[in-house]
This record gives sequence, C-alpha cells and structure tokens, in this order.
Amino acid sequence: MFVYADNAATTPVSDAVFNAMLPWLHDRYGNPSAIYSVGREAKAAVEDARVKVASLIGARPEEIVFTAGGSESDNYALKGTAYAGRKKGRHIISTKIEHHAMLHTLEWLEKQGFEVTLLDVDSDGLVSPDDVKRAVSDNTILISVMAANNEIGTIEPIAEIGEIAAAHKIPFHTDAVQAYGHIPLNVREMNLSTLSLSAHKLRGPKGIGALYIKNGTHIDTFLHGGGQERGRRGGTENVAGIVGLGEAAYQCSLHMAEDAKRVTALRDRLIAGILPIPYSRLTGHPTRRLPGNASFCIEGIEGEAIVLTLDSLGVMASSGSACSSGSLDPSHVLMAIGLPHVVAHGSVRLSLGPQNTDAEVDYLISAVHKTAEDLRAKSPVWENNAPMWAKFE
Ligand SMILES: Cc1ncc(COP(=O)(O)O)c(C=O)c1O
Repeated sequence: MFVYADNAATTPVSDAVFNAMLPWLHDRYGNPSAIYSVGREAKAAVEDARVKVASLIGARPEEIVFTAGGSESDNYALKGTAYAGRKKGRHIISTKIEHHAMLHTLEWLEKQGFEVTLLDVDSDGLVSPDDVKRAVSDNTILISVMAANNEIGTIEPIAEIGEIAAAHKIPFHTDAVQAYGHIPLNVREMNLSTLSLSAHKLRGPKGIGALYIKNGTHIDTFLHGGGQERGRRGGTENVAGIVGLGEAAYQCSLHMAEDAKRVTALRDRLIAGILPIPYSRLTGHPTRRLPGNASFCIEGIEGEAIVLTLDSLGVMASSGSACSSGSLDPSHVLMAIGLPHVVAHGSVRLSLGPQNTDAEVDYLISAVHKTAEDLRAKSPVWENNAPMWAKFE
C-alpha cells in the first residue's frame, strides 16, 4: 500500500485546482498588465482569485498581495514592517518555534540592528499571551506569532495576542502557512496587520502564496519592479498559480468544516493506534492542534531511520529529529517544548489530509508499529535507553 502522510510538507494538487489552472498554462497566456482582451481576461482571473483568497480570512481583496509562497510572504512581512517602523523603534517580538522562513529572517534583521525577543513556549508548544504582554516595550515595532506550528500542530492563541498588539498599537503578523484553509481565521477579529499563506499546503500548486496586508499598514515594498500588485510586488504575475491558489481557497471555503471534522477523526484514531507503542508520546497540544497533525516521539529509535523504514513500507512521513541542513541536532521546536535529546531524536510526524482514508490510517498504524519493533530489535542501545524516558517524565 502507498500512503502519503506528509501533508504538512506539501499536499497533492486537487482535481478542481488542476482543472482550473490548465487553461492558464497553455491557451490563456496573456500578461495581466496588457490592455488588450487576452491580457484583460488574465487580469480578471487574477482579481477573481484575489477575492476568493481574501474572503476565506475576512479580508478585503485589495489587502491581498500575491507572492511566490510562504517564505516570501514571511520575508516581506518582517522586513517590510521592520524597515517601515525603524524610526519608531527596533524591537521585534516572536517565538522560538517559528518556521525557518521566520527565524532566519529575524536573524538577518538582528544583523541590521534590530533587536529580537524570541518567546519560550510551554511543553505543549503554546505561546503565553502574558509573556507577549511582558515583552512589549516602547521600542516594540512588531509582534509575530505563528498561527499553528508545522511540526507539532499546536494552534496558538492568535486572537488573544492580537488584542495585546492592538492595545499597544503594534503591528501584528502571523505565519498562517499551516493554518490557512484548515482552521477558521479572521484577520479583523484577530487584529492582524499581516498574514502569510501558501497554496501548496491546501491542495494548490507550489511556488505561489500571498501576504494579507491590512489597509493602512505601514510596510515597505519588498520586491521592486513594475507596478504589479499596486506597486507592492513587482514581477509579471504567476497567473496559473494565482488561479490555482484562488481555486484551492474556494474549495476550502466550501469544504473546510466538513474536511476538518473528518480529518480530525482520522487523526485521533491514528494517535490512539500509535500511542500503545511502549515509550512513545504525542508531541504538541492534545486537543488544540491542526486537524491533520499527528506527531510523536518514539524512544530508542532515530527519526531518519523511522522515515526511511516507513518509506520502504510505502508510507511517506517526516521527522523533526534532524533538520534539513544535515545537522544532528533535534529540531528547534522539539527543543523548545523541553524534550530531552534522547527523546526528541525519535520524532516522526504523520500529517493527514482530506484525501486520506480509514484504510490508510489502519495501514499507517500497523506500519509504525512494525517500524518501531524492527528498529528497536536492531538497536544495540534500545534496552539500555528504555528507562531514560521515565527519568524525564
Ligand atoms: C509554518 C510555515 N511557514 C512557512 C513555510 C514556507 O512556505 P513555502 O514553502 O510556501 O515557502 C512553511 C512551509 O513548510 C511552513 O510550514
């Protein structure tokens, strides 16, 4: 059996999205900036997508700027807001569990003279609004907290943090790349100034995303060029990608609630099936978590070995045990929730989507059990290490 269980990494393009995009990859090739009919129809398709992307989060269409994905949107929000606000102050508040698109951008901003406070999270991965409040100073020009974590699935208290930001009149950004299209988000209720999203996490194509920028937000242009996106992001629009993102957002507007219910039920059955493995534990919040995210640590075995063994059984999963740079350190997220290295090394993330089935979940459960047994049987250290778990309880 083949089971794709890495929907937090990327999702398969849906039929609806594929069919919507096709004409724009071939027959309908106009440049949206051109004033003749073929250009105008491309422009109309882009504007139609903008309406769909905006309406899913209660934004106005003109508040949506199309980008090349989540990483660009995060770069734009952070650098654009920091530079627009630098005469007021230099302090930025964010968290230790952000995606590298955020953390590496923040590191770069530090080198440019900004000061960054990265807040801790609790053992479930939750950011405390009180910590945000305490970190605010007269010098703070931006607060940024992700809507939901990509590794452990924890959903953050964005509305509460938004209230704090609004009370202090500080711009508030959220990286909603994992959350958009999966859980309800409302930019007004959450007092957001900017929000990042990316199509390939909601069954759209890769390399296209958007940044919501609230009307009136002070933000510097990130990508200079022609006057596209009302001067906010230069470059001929990726029309097919934008149409794909629009269709993906539209499909979410139709099916998000029912999909979330079904995927949550699959996820909970998967979690219940895996936790009987001795010395295994769920990472992330038990209930405040993304519908599709089931992430674990299984002690005594190593995350990359788990992923490769699962692959040999036809299961596509991922691990936060080692980061993509080839480092042997467990991920910053698993460290931030306080897991000891010996536990964090056995991390595996299974992330489901609406296309996954009950039969696939059954297979995933048996494949993970088999993987844990096989790898432990081969591990020279497993018997010695088993009690380590209890030490850290
Ligand atoms: C939370 C989060 N932010 C940002 C990104 C980057 O998005 P993209 O792959 O569209 O650049 C990802 C992708 O995994 C993500 O999960």
